[in-house]
Amino acid sequence: MVNTHTFLAKLIHWTFIPLYAYGIFKQVGDLNELQDASLLNFEILFASVFLIIVLLRYFYMKDTPALLGANDDVHKVHLFIAKTVHRLVYLSLIMLPTTGLLIAGLFSLGVGGIDLAIAIHEFSAFLSYVVIALHVGATFYSRFKGEGLWNAMVPIWQETEKKESSLIWKLNAIEKKVYDNIEDKFNY
Ligand code: HEM
Ligand code: HEM
Repeated sequence: MVNTHTFLAKLIHWTFIPLYAYGIFKQVGDLNELQDASLLNFEILFASVFLIIVLLRYFYMKDTPALLGANDDVHKVHLFIAKTVHRLVYLSLIMLPTTGLLIAGLFSLGVGGIDLAIAIHEFSAFLSYVVIALHVGATFYSRFKGEGLWNAMVPIWQETEKKESSLIWKLNAIEKKVYDNIEDKFNY
């Protein structure tokens, strides 16, 4: 039987992308904009809904194995890296609304520390770009090698067969060497 993510996991994965894109593109331009009470309230509502969705998704997905659709056995270091990237995606997606809400709280109370909160908020946005780019890049790389995990989450342009070529063989050999080295070094 082919391993695949549940319908609900796929639905959440794909419907979340427009929500994230909206959050990133509608971003507050600068602090003064928060003097508009209706904008401030909307930001608080949006950040709360965003945070709740991310947390519900995390608890729904947390016991699902990473690289679920892989055709072959996956090196445990590879699995660890994939799981870590997924966790960093969640971390950045939790930090974004949490620090946004913190900015709103500090702004409303008129107390100090807002510059630091904005700096952490901006770092969270940066972290989300980096880890999501890494995630999408790794997915396309795996699709290129025809490893099967694309099919477990992406409903279009499905892989039809396991690919074989000397380039793929070489890439797999390099990866195995790197993973074995990491395993040896960290006694993982
Ligand atoms: C905002 C953009 C994205 C975010 C936040 C995101 C996040 C995630 C997360 C957290 C997972 C782990 C499963 C889960 O907890 O749901 C996952 C799985 C996956 N994503 Fe994405 N993703 C994004 C975009 C994409 C895109 C554009 C693609 C491919 C074109 C993609 C392909 C996959 C695949 C194949 C899996 C399954 C990997 C596995 O089984 O371990 N994702 N994604
Ligand atoms: C899920 C919710 C949110 C997302 C996705 C989000 C996203 C972003 C992004 C991408 C930036 C630009 C960061 C950069 O320059 O790299 C930003 C900046 C900012 N956001 Fe948010 N934000 C959210 C919630 C909030 C909330 C609730 C507030 C406050 C009410 C807020 C206030 C600000 C402020 C003041 C800035 C900095 C503007 C400046 O550079 O002066 N954000 N946000």
